Amino acid sequence: MHNRRQFLKNVGLMSVASVPLLSACTPNNPSQTSNNATLDKDNKSKANKNPFADLKYDFYGTHQSGITTPAQRHTYFLVAELHSTDVNEIQQMFKDWTAYSAKLMAGKNIKPYDQNPHLPPSDTGEADSLGAYGLTLTFGISPSFLKKLNLEHKAPPEFSNLPNFPRDQLKPHLTGGDICISACSEDPQVAFHAVRQLVRQARSLITMKWSQSGYNAFDDGADTPRNLFAFKDGTANKETLENTDKWLWIGEGAFKNGSYLVVRLIQMHLETWDRTSLVGQEDTFGRHRESGASIGKTDEFAPLDIHAKDDKGKLMVGEASHAGIAKRTGLQILRRSYSYSSGIDDKGQFNAGLLFVSFQKNPMQFSVIQNAFGNNDKMTEYTTHIGSGLFACFGGVEKGGYLGQGLFE
Ligand code: HEM
Repeated sequence: MHNRRQFLKNVGLMSVASVPLLSACTPNNPSQTSNNATLDKDNKSKANKNPFADLKYDFYGTHQSGITTPAQRHTYFLVAELHSTDVNEIQQMFKDWTAYSAKLMAGKNIKPYDQNPHLPPSDTGEADSLGAYGLTLTFGISPSFLKKLNLEHKAPPEFSNLPNFPRDQLKPHLTGGDICISACSEDPQVAFHAVRQLVRQARSLITMKWSQSGYNAFDDGADTPRNLFAFKDGTANKETLENTDKWLWIGEGAFKNGSYLVVRLIQMHLETWDRTSLVGQEDTFGRHRESGASIGKTDEFAPLDIHAKDDKGKLMVGEASHAGIAKRTGLQILRRSYSYSSGIDDKGQFNAGLLFVSFQKNPMQFSVIQNAFGNNDKMTEYTTHIGSGLFACFGGVEKGGYLGQGLFE
């Protein structure tokens, strides 16, 4: 297997000579940091090494990575459109992406570097000094993908476009698309690099439509991350993960062992939220902000109690609370969302929100919950849905197989 660093060794003296100069300017260079001055040389390098650098997930398995994999700290999510309708070309693209993904997730470049310095390097190179950082790659396709390739007969009956939902303000350039690639990693550049290579190799077949990077913040991987409203987001996933056959995995057909991915780009109006009292914030979700517990409880993972009443006989998890409404549908989904904050909008407010990603066995699970929120969910006062997509993610790939094999064969 090719080592990313090989390039620097191979392409000539100029590049090699520049390495020590560059690293001497890097804040992470152990010799430049004063707070580790008492450590010996070996410990110094260990103390400075990112503990996630060598984390690797296996590309091969029954299910694709990046679904039940514990959420990493960074994502780069991309939606692309097909501009080839030749099914053989697209099948080959997925075969190539299979081989490339296995390498990228192992912390390697997709191809060895060419020895000829007069050609553009075969890898764009920004991950050359980086490990795998727990990279996962998850691929899905939409109903329009099947239509363009005349594969509609392979679509499971439940796989059609999402309906319009109350209050949607979807922007066409952030909605639809044919293919999604979700790259998640403990390092943002590793995630971006992976998507960049996959797109670069398929430039003659696909066009990028929209993308969003995002982050999740937590000290301990066992903790539930907080979203930008400061609430723990993902608590109820525990219940979904206890019954994945019921809620998550497609049981048969071209997408067997896969799952439906819903993506929603949701603006969060932080300035309005920040003017809301703590009680108002907690009523919005039906959970306590600090602990994440159901109102009136202390344990984050105690079941959300939709029947509990206070001493005045009022429901503690209100009927208009976000978690209360979702819970009352009786349905579960797996949420794997990431926060984003990208500059300032045209009103001088933060352009920030949630790259909402959920996985479910049937898109109906999402639609029923989203329709139940409708105009009732208190949270809608603080959010606007501006992007959307529904994709069927393939089942996992066994060694010797390729992404989408169940669809193409
Ligand atoms: C910016 C948008 C959103 C924010 C900030 C948000 C935040 C939250 C929070 C803080 C919770 C409570 C803790 C938890 O169980 O994770 C929650 C629960 C939940 N949310 Fe959202 N959410 C958003 C959008 C959505 C959307 C679009 C859906 C799907 C249609 C959804 C479905 C759910 C579900 C199913 C639960 C769990 C309810 C339960 O069974 O306890 N959320 N959300």
